Amino acid sequence: MSTPAVDPLLRLAGVHAYIGESHILQGVDFAVAPNRVTVLLGRNGAGKTTTLRTILGLVPAASGTITFDGVEIGTEKPHHVVRRGVGYVPEDRDVFAGLTVAQNLRLAQRPGASRERWALAHALFPDLERRADQRAGSLSGGQQQMVAIARALVNDNRLLLVDEPSKGLAPVVVAQVTEALAAIKGTTTILLVEQNLAMAQALADDAVVLDDGRVVYTGPMAELAADEALQTRYLGAGGHATAHV
Ligand SMILES: Nc1ncnc2c1ncn2[C@@H]1O[C@H](COP(=O)(O)OP(=O)(O)O)[C@@H](O)[C@H]1O
Ligand SMILES: [Mg+2]
Repeated sequence: MSTPAVDPLLRLAGVHAYIGESHILQGVDFAVAPNRVTVLLGRNGAGKTTTLRTILGLVPAASGTITFDGVEIGTEKPHHVVRRGVGYVPEDRDVFAGLTVAQNLRLAQRPGASRERWALAHALFPDLERRADQRAGSLSGGQQQMVAIARALVNDNRLLLVDEPSKGLAPVVVAQVTEALAAIKGTTTILLVEQNLAMAQALADDAVVLDDGRVVYTGPMAELAADEALQTRYLGAGGHATAHV
């Protein structure tokens, strides 16, 4: 096992969550080690997005505990969780189409956000500097994804929750996004939801696999990458776990 003997930055223990009457998360347990990339994998509908939304407090945890940096956040409101230094890049990106790139980024900045973080976001995605005055709605899907990631980067976040950044993007853009996340790896802790196994392999140290709202695997990404039986069983080989970055 390569699990480091340090306190996790984030830990979920016995987390249950409902959407309406549906029991979506059915006792989720896993930990995210600091300054590493943990990938959350699983089929469509496994509960990956709901897990991120529950960490943020957007979906209430019905029971269990969510601990961030030693503090129980499972009952906190989303804006409190965010203020603790948790950045979110949602699955559908949610950029403000009518605002410019620069306006999107400025709106995302919390009080005290540093110039260094602003510079870092633009160094990782130089396209955003060039397109600062362009309406976000007129950007390509890949450029909108860069805006969505940059919005999380302009704040001094300690944990980034990134939901399927490769979804619907051309391979060349997936490679660019992978490179940007690789560049901040080691200084920012990332919990990444991905169905693109190659991207997960390129970035992740640790893997968590969800199935039907339960964790069915936690361990090194390298071990999961080598275990075809596990992949076939929980990720659907030849299905959504596409092979190219
Ligand atoms: N707003 C919603 N209303 C009802 N059911 C939902 C809603 N959002 C998600 N679900 C259900 O919750 C389950 C988990 O969804 P989700 O967390 O989005 O999965 P994943 O991100 O792994 O694809 C699915 O069965 C999905 O149909
Ligand atoms: Mg999802």
